[in-house]
Amino acid sequence: MTDTKATNITWHEGHVSREERETLLKQKGALIWFTGLSGSGKSTIAFTLEHALVEQGYMAYCLDGDNIRHGLNKNLGFSPEDRTENIRRIAEVGKLFVDAGIVTCTAFISPYRDDRNAAREVFEGNDFIEIFVDTPLDVCEERDPKGLYKKARAGEIKGFTGIDAPYEAPDKPELVIDTSKCSPQEASVTIIEYLEKIGKIAK
Ligand code: ADX
Repeated sequence: MTDTKATNITWHEGHVSREERETLLKQKGALIWFTGLSGSGKSTIAFTLEHALVEQGYMAYCLDGDNIRHGLNKNLGFSPEDRTENIRRIAEVGKLFVDAGIVTCTAFISPYRDDRNAAREVFEGNDFIEIFVDTPLDVCEERDPKGLYKKARAGEIKGFTGIDAPYEAPDKPELVIDTSKCSPQEASVTIIEYLEKIGKIAK
């Protein structure tokens, strides 16, 4: 738990409820939390899904690890503590998006089970949907889209997830996707069907 440093602060309830926003948007807010190794396909699936949802008339938005680390989280590195803070902030930002009624995707390695479980705790009911992008390490390393595995193997990057830093697989993710067996489009269809099944979007 991160302590609250600020004192003399009061929570203000808005005048517009989440339900009113959801009625307006004809959808329900949800946080689709992708987790998996670098190069596993999290961002690709997340952006494909975002595109597919918007094309179908739904409001969706992606928060992506590499992108968020250029701004909001530019002061964080890859130590366990910084990764924990990275995930904590994303969960809190994601909660705001969900309260806005938006189908929100987050694509972060989020290698620590405790951090993901803490993120889950921020949400209620069926708002948090954990998707394990379970692409084998050798496939991610073969893809190596940013050349980072090569650098990690050469010792030029220390503490790289899957090489010399851990990745803890989820115990009970809502969905598991192996991108060595399906395309981003197929993964996106599976997730859309799941969102329909739990009533986040209409069938
Ligand atoms: S997380 O572990 O804190 O969830 P995040 O998803 O934000 O990580 O960022 C991961 C991305 O940062 C990777 O896809 C890769 O491009 C880059 N990166 C740079 N250094 C590392 C590292 N040591 N471990 C993992 N990813 C790294």
